[in-house]
Amino acid sequence: MLDQSLWRAHDVPRFGGALPNRLDVVIVGGGITGLTAALLLKQSGKTVAVFEREHIGAGESGNTSAHLTYVTDLKLSEIVAHFGRDAARRVWQGGALAIDLIETNASNRSIACGFQRVPGFLCAPFVEGDDQHKDLQEQADLATELGFAARFVERGPVTGRPAVAFADQALFHPLDYVTGLALAVDGGGSFVRDKAEVGEVLQDPLVVTVNGENIACDDVIIATHVPIMGSSSLIDATLLQTKLYPYSSYVLGARVGDDAPPPGLYFDTSNPYYYLRIHEERGSRYAIFGGEDHKTGNEEDTESHFTRLEATLRTLLPSSQLERRWSGQVVETADRLPFIGQTANHQYAATGYAGNGLTFGTLAGMMLHDAVMGVQNPWRELFDPNRKATSLSAIAHFVTENVDYPYHYIADRLRNRDQAGAESVAPGEGKVLTIGGQRVACHRTSDGKLMKVSAVCTHMGCLVRWNGAESTWDCPCHGSRFTPDGLVLGGPAETALEKL
Ligand SMILES: Cc1cc2nc3c(=O)[nH]c(=O)nc-3n(C[C@H](O)[C@H](O)[C@H](O)COP(=O)(O)OP(=O)(O)OC[C@H]3O[C@@H](n4cnc5c(N)ncnc54)[C@H](O)[C@@H]3O)c2cc1C
Ligand code: FES
Repeated sequence: MLDQSLWRAHDVPRFGGALPNRLDVVIVGGGITGLTAALLLKQSGKTVAVFEREHIGAGESGNTSAHLTYVTDLKLSEIVAHFGRDAARRVWQGGALAIDLIETNASNRSIACGFQRVPGFLCAPFVEGDDQHKDLQEQADLATELGFAARFVERGPVTGRPAVAFADQALFHPLDYVTGLALAVDGGGSFVRDKAEVGEVLQDPLVVTVNGENIACDDVIIATHVPIMGSSSLIDATLLQTKLYPYSSYVLGARVGDDAPPPGLYFDTSNPYYYLRIHEERGSRYAIFGGEDHKTGNEEDTESHFTRLEATLRTLLPSSQLERRWSGQVVETADRLPFIGQTANHQYAATGYAGNGLTFGTLAGMMLHDAVMGVQNPWRELFDPNRKATSLSAIAHFVTENVDYPYHYIADRLRNRDQAGAESVAPGEGKVLTIGGQRVACHRTSDGKLMKVSAVCTHMGCLVRWNGAESTWDCPCHGSRFTPDGLVLGGPAETALEKL
């Protein structure tokens, strides 16, 4: 079994070369958000540079399950209840428009990313529980009233239980798509550069440091999934980061037989929900099945999530022949709508997409383009990063989610002072030990080498935990993730764990 997403089987070209001195717009992050914004801005006559720390698609755009749907994780009726019917219609219309833009880009730029229109199904729980007949019927009626092509189905696909069918959703190969965007951006006075890490964003004049070099620009877009803060805007970004809650999600890739439904998108109403994508590859069907989400860094036994996911897939599709497994992070907000827009003078960010980041990320590309160009945009107020929590339930959610930070910060320091020595760490294992009064994150590689880094998260000081399923150090407070030797894999932390 390969521990890598299906998409990463395709090569991604590298974008090296000299760094420019000055540009109209600097974009930090080479995922779907940054590259969509970059292409639109270039098309509008701006010179742009996309700086990517690793390589194009290295972040969650390469870990996704790649459903293109306007059906949000947040139920339509809940969006209506919290924000009203117009806002709910606008949120879903944003998703539909994003799918249209991806289709247009793929077609106009000849991006061979396998874009294909398919139906999407919101299904009664795949595994157990009530069949939610009434609720699904109501969701279908509401979607129809708001102008979306939805239809209640008594016996839906996958399990034969009720479902809502949505026409005109889509699937594609996300890495091939973002690669196509990057190739279209690079050249003609604009740049894509990988292995280019942005460290600071300094104001008056606006300067971005890339691999230690200063680059001047008029506007900066932070498209790093969880926004980096840079020392100059420490307080604002820290506040934004504490409004974000990363969740880990697990995915399996399997060849499937005739028991699989036709190519399409299938997601259920359980909590956390399961998502299944079926597509065809070289004449045979392939399933991507995900779920088992939990708040990042809050589970000791991460491996058990893969085990349960596998058991569920085998129940649903007994013909499954597992080939791959991978996981990644989705980012939630208090009111469960994304934050997209201006965060400081000439600075913009986009985050908080939950499991809809390919469509919201594409919509964010359009919104950030409009913000830089000074054009009004219909989603601006709705997704404004400075909006106040709009309902009591959102405020309650905010409080509940941030309860973890002070709790873990204090509790982790008081308990589990494991006095065992480093020899207790078996090959492949990771443990936080107390050595010389210090909390040390120890990992032993499969060939017996011991790696020791500080267990103190460089974001706001919580203690990291070993994630055995992914071989990473994860922070339970705001979800930062680090490699076994302490390098940052995912923010909000921006600095590596101290090597010991
Ligand atoms: C398991 C899983 C399943 C999902 N399924 C779906 C789905 O079916 N449909 C859907 O719509 N969404 C889905 N999502 C969500 C979606 O994939 C993400 O929300 C989306 O890809 C985020 O795109 P992005 O461009 O904002 O961020 P990313 O793709 O994460 O890109 C951010 C980039 O910024 C770079 N970076 C970070 N810091 C710096 C720095 N200092 N300097 C330079 N570069 C930096 C990173 O290396 C990274 O490449 C899923 C996510 C996961 C994890
Ligand atoms: S992610 Fe905030 S303290 Fe670690």
